[in-house]
Amino acid sequence: MDLHRIRVQLRDTPGQLARVAGALGDLGVNILEVDLHSVVGAARADEMLVDLTRPLDLRAVELAVLKAGAEVLDIAPADPHELKDPVTRALELAYGFLRESDHSALADLAAALVRADQGAIVPASGLDPVAAASARVGGGGRQSRERADDDTLEWTLSIPFHDGHEHLVLTLSRRQPHFSFTEMARVRALLGLVPRTAPSAQPPVALPDGGAIETRLLSPNDLRAAERLHDRCSATTLAQRYFTSVPLARSGLLPRLFMFDEHHLAIGAATGSELVGIAHLAIEREQPRAEIAILVEDTHQRRGIATALLAEATSHLLDRGIEHLEALTLPGNGGMETLVQRLGQPLRLRREAGLVRVVIDLRQLAEQATTARR
Ligand SMILES: CC(C)(COP(=O)(O)OP(=O)(O)OC[C@H]1O[C@@H](n2cnc3c(N)ncnc32)[C@H](O)[C@@H]1OP(=O)(O)O)[C@@H](O)C(=O)NCCC(=O)NCCS
Repeated sequence: MDLHRIRVQLRDTPGQLARVAGALGDLGVNILEVDLHSVVGAARADEMLVDLTRPLDLRAVELAVLKAGAEVLDIAPADPHELKDPVTRALELAYGFLRESDHSALADLAAALVRADQGAIVPASGLDPVAAASARVGGGGRQSRERADDDTLEWTLSIPFHDGHEHLVLTLSRRQPHFSFTEMARVRALLGLVPRTAPSAQPPVALPDGGAIETRLLSPNDLRAAERLHDRCSATTLAQRYFTSVPLARSGLLPRLFMFDEHHLAIGAATGSELVGIAHLAIEREQPRAEIAILVEDTHQRRGIATALLAEATSHLLDRGIEHLEALTLPGNGGMETLVQRLGQPLRLRREAGLVRVVIDLRQLAEQATTARR
């Protein structure tokens, strides 16, 4: 077998692929597999794994494709083990991805998925300001043409993601062909597995009743667990958290709470795979101030879960230099006020627009917690 991988670009109209297949057939080229890729505009890229069946000048293949109204973007020898069923291959790579926690192994697996020459994962903070900003807001990725170490040009695909701890960017590069939208989507799908495999950010927190919870930063992958938590909460608890009695999942508000950027994060309290509490944090753009809103499932209230979430939020915010935290509550809902007082803070309240704003000094809170531990 003389296997080659050919990527052709053709107009996305009926009969185009048949013409290319016919032209290749006339040369005696046997098509073993076709993978369809969407690219920019009205074109499509089809990647074919072919057996040349007899010695052939690759230029003749390119000319035949050109005559059939398409263009060869790349043609390269292929390995017999690439004959593996593509779905099996993708699942095997996903399995490898779940098993590995080492970043360089993850980059290699992503590179193997789209047959890139190289893959690397870097912290978004190490990038130039534009790339870093795009990474933090979780953009879908971008492609650029860059000069490689050996001075040749190569295509670089950069896809931002969050591994449960920090904003990172996966970069994949290859000489030819440029990456298709389909390949971008495949890499993003693979990266979607990462937050699930990220280890818990913190060791379990022991609760006063002898139980334990884990606190961790949430990602969009936690949306289903968050929906289940909301389904288990009483209407009163939900109304105290959201100041409305409209069911959240149906109002579409919940998915919006799970869109994270550098100004919005959520910390979850979990027992096993189920969330029992969530603290949402909104960080102001201009001021070093943040607002917190906490929800704890009814049957888990008064176990110290909001206290644990507040402690976790405090450490995240102090890390960012934010010492001023506020929580908005309904008048008459004393839970948050008592909780803050219980932590040893003098109660500072402001009434506004029918709500009560509880002010928390995080530096003081952290110092009190340290003193309490001594
Ligand atoms: C308010 C809320 C977040 C508290 O969560 P929690 O996990 O029960 O809080 P904790 O167990 O950490 O409470 C610590 C202390 O705060 C006080 N506290 C908590 N909830 C209280 C309540 N409903 N009434 C009075 N005091 C309360 C208690 O002193 C408690 O300690 P104790 O149980 O040993 O007496 C939770 O009840 C909730 O989700 N309520 C609905 C949503 C809401 O009101 N959110 C706040 C506005 S955004």
